[in-house]
Amino acid sequence: MEKLVIQGGTPLEGDVVIGGAKNAVLPLLAATLLADGKMTIKNVPRLRDVYTTIKLLEGMGVTVEVDDDFNITTDASTINSYVAPYELVKTMRASILVLGPTLARYGESEVSLPGGCAIGSRPVNIHLSGLEAMGADITVHEGFIRARAKRLRGARYVMEKVTVTGTENLLMAAVLAEGTTILENSAREPEVTDLADCLNAMGAKISGAGTSTITVEGVERLKGIEYSVCPDRIETGTFLAGAAITGGHVRTLKADPAALDSVLQKFRDAGAYVQTGADWIDLDMRGRTLKAVDITTDPYPGFPTDMQAQFMAMNAFSQGIGVVVETIFENRMMHVAELMRMGANIRLEGNTAIVAGMPDLYGAPVMATDLRASASLILAGLAANGKTVVDRIYHTDRGYEKIEERLQHLGANIERVNT
Ligand code: EPU
Repeated sequence: MEKLVIQGGTPLEGDVVIGGAKNAVLPLLAATLLADGKMTIKNVPRLRDVYTTIKLLEGMGVTVEVDDDFNITTDASTINSYVAPYELVKTMRASILVLGPTLARYGESEVSLPGGCAIGSRPVNIHLSGLEAMGADITVHEGFIRARAKRLRGARYVMEKVTVTGTENLLMAAVLAEGTTILENSAREPEVTDLADCLNAMGAKISGAGTSTITVEGVERLKGIEYSVCPDRIETGTFLAGAAITGGHVRTLKADPAALDSVLQKFRDAGAYVQTGADWIDLDMRGRTLKAVDITTDPYPGFPTDMQAQFMAMNAFSQGIGVVVETIFENRMMHVAELMRMGANIRLEGNTAIVAGMPDLYGAPVMATDLRASASLILAGLAANGKTVVDRIYHTDRGYEKIEERLQHLGANIERVNT
């Protein structure tokens, strides 16, 4: 089992190049199912979830080529199956993203119903009822979602909750539907906008992406293109949090500051000196005092749930008391108990954590329970006194490419061991 061993106490210093966004590349790879001809996705991060998506597409018969720079070229003309099997869906819930495009393009799709996961029950009812509103015939049988439609029809559909992958699935279905689709209460996340930009470049007619009302005029076909994935805003925020928590100075390159407004504001509130350029963010914490901040997660442009655990770790080392409220997922506080093993002073009341900052935490063996929880434990380990061993780092590898190498480059004392 691979683990990360961290000797804490070294301030992070230096530059780090940000990769393509995990939560953008997964829908973009699903969108390649819609293309006539070959399609190439560039700036792809080498992540476990990307390899899983490649496996998923190949299992459907799609031809996938990966070059030395990890650009991924697909050709969906060889598709011979419309099934996303349980073995893959259980390891990556985002497999549900093939449902919309496969149904829209090929008239049928079968996707294993994702179960609950470590952070919550995460139903997909909105994905399904949105497709039904577009005329799909959907049944759930023996753990599989089976969807059929000769051709989807445009519809006006109000999502009862803001859902990121739900919006993406319905968007990918609507682009080939007959007539106009209006998606109300859409997610406004930058990854949704990135998908819409890509679909438009393929020939789709989408307007309003990035707002809560997205309008789609269906077209007959989409062409294959080359498209480069947007920067990962959560990876960016995580490295900046590394500088903040260790009292260091980090510049993230090839980043998108505009996608991080709410997060950068919180870093400033926490006492960091933050500067931005067109595609870089610089956070300097040297000689400054880390102050606790209150956080309430919200859909974009609110504070992202995917940065909640990292700010929890920062608060644990800060001066003062910070209240962290998780509103998106019902069970995304598993890192709290692990941080407390390192000496953090946190009281958990349901989905609210009251964190009283401590001057020092000490290293301990801890266990990652999900991707962002693993990030918060690594951050805590970087700032704690002594040795922290983070177990179950397969969660980390789902969303952070070569995390230990990039942290070593910033001066961290961290290594991956196999025991
Ligand atoms: N929801 C429903 N019904 C649905 C869909 C969602 O009730 O049909 C609920 C969920 O249970 C949740 C809320 O709506 O309470 C929002 O969930 P959402 O659907 O937006 O989450 P998601 O699309 O499954 C994506 C990211 C997550 C990120 C969330 C929120 C991808 C592949 N995943 O998940 O990323 O936390 O949006 O921003 O885009 C991560 O990267 O660590 C991660 C978990």
